[in-house]
Amino acid sequence: MCDAPVTSAANTNTSAQTPLRVAVLVSGSGSNLQVLINAMQQKALPIEIIGVISNREDAYAITRANDAGIEVAVLSHVESGKRMGIKTFEKHATAQLETWQPDLVVLAGFMRVLSADFIDNAPAPMINLHPSLLPAYKGLDTHTRVLRAGEREHGCSIHVVTAELDAGQVLSQAVLPIRHTDTPDGLQKRVQVLEHQLLPWTILQIATGGLSLTPSEQKSSILPALPLRLLIDA
Ligand code: GRF
Repeated sequence: MCDAPVTSAANTNTSAQTPLRVAVLVSGSGSNLQVLINAMQQKALPIEIIGVISNREDAYAITRANDAGIEVAVLSHVESGKRMGIKTFEKHATAQLETWQPDLVVLAGFMRVLSADFIDNAPAPMINLHPSLLPAYKGLDTHTRVLRAGEREHGCSIHVVTAELDAGQVLSQAVLPIRHTDTPDGLQKRVQVLEHQLLPWTILQIATGGLSLTPSEQKSSILPALPLRLLIDA
C-alpha cells in the first residue's frame, strides 16, 4: 500500500497566535502526553490539546489529562463479555474527533492497529511515535530485537500514519548509540528520554510550518530531505 495523501490545515498554521488543535490517542502511562501538556501549559509549544482518547480505562494517561483539565474519551468498554472491537472503537473515535475538529491527531503510545478506512477518513492527519529507527524494526518488542541483532544504534521515529503499519513517511528521528551494557529495559528508558524531546520538537516543526505533512511539499528543494535526525545523548 502506498502513503495516503494527507490533506490538512496543520502545516498552514504558521501563526504562533493560533494554536494547533491537537487530539492525542493513548493506551498507557502517557509520559509523552505529559510532555505535551507541560509544553502547552508553559507556552513552549503553540498547541492546544483539545482532547485525549484512551482505549484502556486503566491508562494513567487519563489521570494526566484529567489533572490538566483536558477532555477525555475512554473507549474501552466490554460488551457481552468481549472487549470493544476495533470497528466499534473507530466508530466512536471518529465521532469524537469530528466533534473536537483537531488539526492534528497524535498517537502517543497508542497500542491498537487502526484500519485503513479510519485512517483515510480521519478529520486530520495522524502522526505516530514508534520506538525504532524506521523502516527498521516495525511492530512490537523493538528494544529486545535491536539488542539481539547486535545493532550499534537505536532510537525512535515519528511518522505519518497510513494504512500500512509503521510504514508512512518518516518525519523525524532521534538516535542514540547502543552500549554493550544495555538491557531491553534500560534501552527502553534511554529511548524514552529521546521520545520526550523528539515528539514536542516535531510538533513544533509542524505547528510552525517547518515540517510539512503533505507529500509534495516534503520534496521542496530548499528543505532538508526527510527524516530530520536528532542525535541526543541519553
Ligand atoms: C512509548 O515508549 C512508545 O515508544 C511506545 O509506547 C510508549 C508509550 O509511553 N509506543 P507513554 O505512554 O507515552 O509513557
